[in-house]
Parts: sequence; C-alpha cells; structure tokens
Amino acid sequence: MLIIVKDDYEAMSNEAAQIVADRLRRKPDLVLGLATGTSPLGMYRALIQMHKQHGLDFSKVTTFNLDEYVGLAPTHDQSYRYFMNVNLFNHINIPERHIFVPDGMADDIDAHCEWYEEEIKKAGGIDLQVLGIGANGHIAFNEPGSSLGSRTRVKTLTDTTRWDNARFFERREEVPKYALTMGVGTIMDSKELLLLANGAGKAAAIKAAAEGPITAQVPASVIQLHRKAYVIVDKDAASGLSGRYPGTWRSSFTLEVV
Ligand code: GLP
Repeated sequence: MLIIVKDDYEAMSNEAAQIVADRLRRKPDLVLGLATGTSPLGMYRALIQMHKQHGLDFSKVTTFNLDEYVGLAPTHDQSYRYFMNVNLFNHINIPERHIFVPDGMADDIDAHCEWYEEEIKKAGGIDLQVLGIGANGHIAFNEPGSSLGSRTRVKTLTDTTRWDNARFFERREEVPKYALTMGVGTIMDSKELLLLANGAGKAAAIKAAAEGPITAQVPASVIQLHRKAYVIVDKDAASGLSGRYPGTWRSSFTLEVV
C-alpha cells in the first residue's frame, strides 16, 4: 500500500487523474472500476478536461461501477447511474455498451449480481478500481461486518451511511435502505486500487483502514492485503495517521512502484 498525502482536494484529484490517465495511455482498453460520491468528483472533472483538451481517449475503455441503490431507476437524480452520466459519462467518448452500473431496478437481484460478476470476468477483470471510503470505514456499500470475501450482492445500509448520504436527498427518509454492491472480494480482485479521501471527517476511517487491524468491522482495512493499492488523501484526511508519508509525489515515480 502506498499512501500519498497531497495538500488539498484539487491536488489529490489531479494526482488521481494522472494515475488513471497513465494507465489508460498504456492500455487503451482499460477496464476501469468507478466510484460515486464527492471524493472522486474532482478526479472526474480533471479527466474530462484531459479528454477535451488533450484528447484522452475513452473509446475502448469499459467501466464497472461499484454500487447502486435498490429501487432507484437510472433516470432518478439520486441514482448512481445518473450521477455518473452527469459527472463523467456525458462528457467523454465512452460507448454506452461499455458502461456497467448495477441495476437497482433488477427484478431478480441475485441473478443480476451473478451476471455483474460474470461481466467483470468476461471483460478480463478490473485493471484499476477507484474507491472512496465511508466515515464508518465502508468501501462501496460494504458496511462494517461485511465478509472480506464477499461478491456482488444486496446489502442493508447502516443508519450512519444513510444519514451521511441524506445530504443529497430532499428528505432523509428518501435514502434507500438497500443497495447492490460489489463485494469486498470483488474489489480485492482488481489489479490496482486507488482509494481517495479528503476532509477531517475521513481522518478516523483512513487511520483505521491504513494503520488499524484488518477487520470486517472496517472493510476498507482489507486494502492492506492488496499488492497494488494507492491511497491518495489530502492533509485533513491524513491528520490521524501516525506513519510518515511523502508530502509530495511525482507521477513519474508512481509508475515504478509495484
Ligand atoms: C457512499 C458510496 C461509497 C463512497 C462513500 C463516500 O456510501 N457507496 O462508494 O465511497 O459514500 O462518499 P463521499 O466520497 O461522498 O464521501
């Protein structure tokens, strides 16, 4: 695991975008795992700019999103599919058929989850998976207590997560109670992980994930077992860490780290 501490959200986002762009230039048919939330938003903005100004090409890329709320249609403005359209897909040249987001309206949820796992396999596995982290240490919607070997399935959201995400909904009660999510095991199968966190509200979760014991109570702590995990944080999110980590980072060096 490599922890990269950047000065602020913008620097964190640019660093992350550089890593994604680098992998994309090396492998034009990259299989990219994507996350929603405010953490990767700046990175998406930077990638859109790279596409528009420097022709960063997404035409051969396939994407798999981590999760989706059960019961929200892709057209619902709080669905994760809608978030991805507005914040990334509508602004880059990715073909619609290359985009995979779990379907929160699937009739047969179990069959849909199996299908999702199969599609990831058929695509050759995820090359680079972008992750945020919940204040309670969740990754995707793998809440505390999730099996560290879990695959894509339906999960019940904790009250903490529902209240954290309520800021996007008009009323708290509207936040769905269930979500489809890649499992911890699905995420760990990705060849590289890129976890982003910013703000003091994430400091405790980052400390627990990066320096605490590996436990299902903090699903993000499993990244300590991954061979190629990058954790990019701003100073505030890094404030709980006791280890010494580089304050600055050069992307050229990123390429050499295994
Ligand atoms: C949600 C998502 C996660 C995300 C987390 C943090 O619960 N399911 O994938 O990482 O929120 O979101 P944010 O980046 O907005 O803090």
